[in-house]
Amino acid sequence: MTFPADFVWGAATAAHQVEGGNWNSDCWALESARPSLFVEHSGVACDQFARYGDDLAILAGLGLNTYRFSIEWARVEPEEGGFSQQALDHYKRIIDACWSRNIQPMATFHHFTNPRWVARDGGFQNDRFPERFARYCETVACAFGDQLAYACTINEINLPDSLDQLMARVKAKYPDRVAAGEAAIGAPIESFFLFAGVAGYTARAVRTHELARDAIKSAAPHVPVGMTMSIQECEAEPGGEAGVAAYKQRVYAPYYDSAKRDDFLGVQTYTRMRFGADGKATRRPPPDAELTQMGYEYRPQALGAACRDAWAATQTPIIVTESGIATQDDGRRRAFIRSALEGVSAAMAAGVDIRGYVYWTLLDNFEWMSGYAPTFGLVGVDRRTMARAIKPSAVMIGEIARANSLEAATKSADQVLSAGAAVGVSDR
Ligand code: FCB
Repeated sequence: MTFPADFVWGAATAAHQVEGGNWNSDCWALESARPSLFVEHSGVACDQFARYGDDLAILAGLGLNTYRFSIEWARVEPEEGGFSQQALDHYKRIIDACWSRNIQPMATFHHFTNPRWVARDGGFQNDRFPERFARYCETVACAFGDQLAYACTINEINLPDSLDQLMARVKAKYPDRVAAGEAAIGAPIESFFLFAGVAGYTARAVRTHELARDAIKSAAPHVPVGMTMSIQECEAEPGGEAGVAAYKQRVYAPYYDSAKRDDFLGVQTYTRMRFGADGKATRRPPPDAELTQMGYEYRPQALGAACRDAWAATQTPIIVTESGIATQDDGRRRAFIRSALEGVSAAMAAGVDIRGYVYWTLLDNFEWMSGYAPTFGLVGVDRRTMARAIKPSAVMIGEIARANSLEAATKSADQVLSAGAAVGVSDR
C-alpha cells in the first residue's frame, strides 16, 4: 500500500469557515437574520485571516505537502467591478507562505459564498453569474494564478442539485427563517448556493465552470484546473436500481461530461446514499449503522466507490479534494482515514488514476448551518482562546504522507501519540 512519489497529501479549509469576519458575504447576512437558518453565527471563525502562518506551520510540521484553501470573492470584489488590491495581496501572502514551507497551494475560487452584491442580484439564478464569476477568476489568476499548484473553480458544483429535495423541505418547515434570510440578502433564497438547485441551475453552473476554467487557464496556462464534485456512494436497496441511475444521470452526468475536458476532477465523499424502490434517495442510514456527528452513516468505503464511479464516467485524473468525518472520538477518525485510504489504494491498483488525498478539514471550524458543533478537524480550536490542539489523527496522516505508505496507519494510538509529542499533540 504505497503511493507514487508525487502524491498529493493535504488538508483543506474554506475561507468562510475559518477566516472570520466575512461580513460582506451572503452567508454572513443569512447568519445575522432573525430568525436564522443557521444555528449560530460564524463570527471570528478560527481567526485564520490573521493566523494562517501558524496554521501553515502546523500543516508543514505534520508532513503534509499540500494546503487546499479558498479565495473569498466577497473580499476580492466587494462591489461590482471594484477589486481590492489588499485582499489580493492577502491571498498572495498565503501562497508565498505555502511555498516557503514547501507546501503546494491548491486554491478554490468559490466555496459556497457569494458577495452580497451578487446575492442581491439573484446570485446563481442570474444569467450574468457565469460572466461575473469568470471576470473575478481572471483578475485573481492575473494577480497570482501562475503561482498556484492547483486551481479548483467551484466547490461541490453539483451540491445544489443533490440538495434540491432537502432544501424544499427546509423551506416548507421554516418559512419564517427563509423570509428573514431573504430580507437580509435582498433576494429569493435560491440566490444562495445551498438552495440554488432549481430549474436552470445545472446548465448555468456548467457554463460558469467552463468560463472560469478558461479564464484561469488563459492567465496561468500550466496550472491544472478542475471543478470539485460531491460524489457519494450510491447503493440500491431492492428495486432501487432505477432510482440510482436516474440520480446519477441528473446530479453527476452533466458535470462528468464537462470534467472530461479538465485537467483533474476533485472528488468529495462523506457517506453512502441509499435508494428505495420508490426511486427516492435518502441519506438515512441503515438501522444498525454507526452514525457520525452529522448523522451520516460511518462509511469510509464510500470514497473508493466514488472514485471508481468518477473515473469510469470521465477517465479524468482524480484528486480526492475532501474526505473526512465529524466525530469527537479521534480514534474513530484514525480508523476512518485508514479505511478510506485502503479504498483509494485498492481503486488505484484496479487502474483508477488518483493523484492525491486531501482531508477535510485542517481545523475544527464553522460547519455552515450546523455551526461549530461538528468537529471534522485534524486540529482542534479552542473557541475562547483560538489555541490550536493537534490531534493524533493529524500526526498519523503526516506520517502516512512522509512515508507515502499506509504502514504508518497500523501504529497503535500510543505510538502515534509518542511520534506526535514533538509537534505538541493532544489526545482529544
Ligand atoms: C462539504 C463542504 C465543506 C464541509 C464538508 C463537511 O460539503 O464542501 O465545506 O462543510 O462538506
